[in-house]
Amino acid sequence: DLSPIDKAKYVAAKRACDYVESGMKLGLGTGSTAAWLVRCLGELVRDEGLKIKGVPTSTRTAQLARDVGIEVISLDEARWLDLTIDGADEYDGALNLIKGGGGALLQEKIVATASDQMIVIADASKKVETLGAFPLPIEVIPFGWQTSKALVEEALVGMDVMGATTSLRMNGQAPFITDEGNHILDLHLNRIGNARQLSLVLNQIPGIVENGLFIDICDIVITGYGDGRVEVHD
Ligand code: A5P
Repeated sequence: DLSPIDKAKYVAAKRACDYVESGMKLGLGTGSTAAWLVRCLGELVRDEGLKIKGVPTSTRTAQLARDVGIEVISLDEARWLDLTIDGADEYDGALNLIKGGGGALLQEKIVATASDQMIVIADASKKVETLGAFPLPIEVIPFGWQTSKALVEEALVGMDVMGATTSLRMNGQAPFITDEGNHILDLHLNRIGNARQLSLVLNQIPGIVENGLFIDICDIVITGYGDGRVEVHD
C-alpha cells in the first residue's frame, strides 16, 4: 500500500512508460519519482521483453537501473537519445523547470538536451505559477567557490528576482559533492521573473558549471495525484 505521495509519483511514472518503445535509447532521471520510473521499466524489461538501453543521470540511478535489469550505457556510447524521463523540483505553465534538488542537475541537463524528447513526471506539489520558491541549485567548481558565490550574488543585483541569499549545500559537516566532484550553491530567490535571462547570466560566471533552470527543454509534464489520477501537459 502506497502513501498518497508515492502513489502520485508511481502513477505518473507508470503513464510515462506508455511513451517507451522497444529499441529506444532512454535518458533515466534521478530522484524519488524517477526511481519509480526505473523500477517500472525494469518490470517491462523482465516481464514483457521490452528492449531498451538506458543512460543514467547519476551513480544512484545507474545502480538502480542495473539492479532492475536495464542495460546501462554511457552517453558517449549512445550519442543521442530518443527520450529522457526525469522528475523535477518545480514546473511552470510553460513547462520550464527547476531541477537539481538531488544534486544531479549537470548530468540531467546534458542528458535531457541530448534527447529528442523530455518528459517530466511529478506529483502535483511541483506545479507553480512562477518558478523560484524552490531554491535554485547551481553547480560550482570547488576551486575558488567563494569567489564564484560572490560573483553570483553580485550578478543577482538588479535582476528580476525576489530576495537573494545563497547557501553552500552541505552533507553533514562537509560540503555536498556532486557526481562530477563539484559543489552546489542553493539560491533562495522566492520568485524568478525572467528565468531565461537568469540562466544565461549565471552560466557566464567563471566557476559556475551549470544551473538548475531547464528552459525549453521539457516537452511533456505528467502530473500524478494521490488518488491515482494523471494529467498530461504538453
Ligand atoms: C535531481 O537532481 C533532481 O533534479 C530531481 O529530479 C528532483 O529533485 C526531483 O526529485 P524527486 O522526484 O525526489 O522529487
